Amino acid sequence: MLKIAPSVLAADFARLGKEAESIRLAGADMIHFDVMDGLFVPNLSLGFPVLESLRRATTLPIDVHLMIERPIRYVGDFCTAGADHVTLHMEADTVEANLDALEKIRAMGKTAGIALKPATPAEAAEPFLKLCDMILVMTVEPGFGAQRFMEHTLPKISALRQRLDEVNPGCDIEVDGGINAGTAVMARNAGANVLVTGSFIFSSPDRAAAIAALRG
Ligand code: DX5
Ligand code: ZN
Repeated sequence: MLKIAPSVLAADFARLGKEAESIRLAGADMIHFDVMDGLFVPNLSLGFPVLESLRRATTLPIDVHLMIERPIRYVGDFCTAGADHVTLHMEADTVEANLDALEKIRAMGKTAGIALKPATPAEAAEPFLKLCDMILVMTVEPGFGAQRFMEHTLPKISALRQRLDEVNPGCDIEVDGGINAGTAVMARNAGANVLVTGSFIFSSPDRAAAIAALRG
């Protein structure tokens, strides 16, 4: 099933509750919440107090995307603060530590996933595939919104979809970065079924129409 996950990184934070309600009414399936630590990526963004407030303000599931070093340190706290799903970057720690982090998220009753930067090959995800509910393929370098979609990531999406169909067919593939009505078609055709969208949706005067356009 195709799901649309607006990224609140592009929202007006002074009116975050209203922004969440607006995208819910426009037909969003979940809210994507970007966490940056200034180390894993050269930017800072959101943390626990904002997640706790957003949790109280919406009934939509919250999809937390951790762009932080050694995510195992914080995955439990993000689950407690209101995440329904937590994604960590596989480049952010050792395979062993990341496997432990995925298990910890699932033990807390939440769904878990790993993310791959644009240069990380599909094969590197192999140790994690069976423990993931969703794999996030970054279609821009993580760290900033409103960048241009990287088409060279499309074969990786297809390769992961093919491999997941063999070992974990229920696992979703999410794409994040530069998604608009045009790039959504490419990502969907490659095998992605969860579309993150920041600037495209929040800058649109008609958010329901923008979400309908992403669904195609
Ligand atoms: C970038 C973030 C994205 C970002 C996407 O590092 O992970 O979620 O908000 O923004 P757009 O859709 O504008 O590329
Ligand atoms: Zn993101």
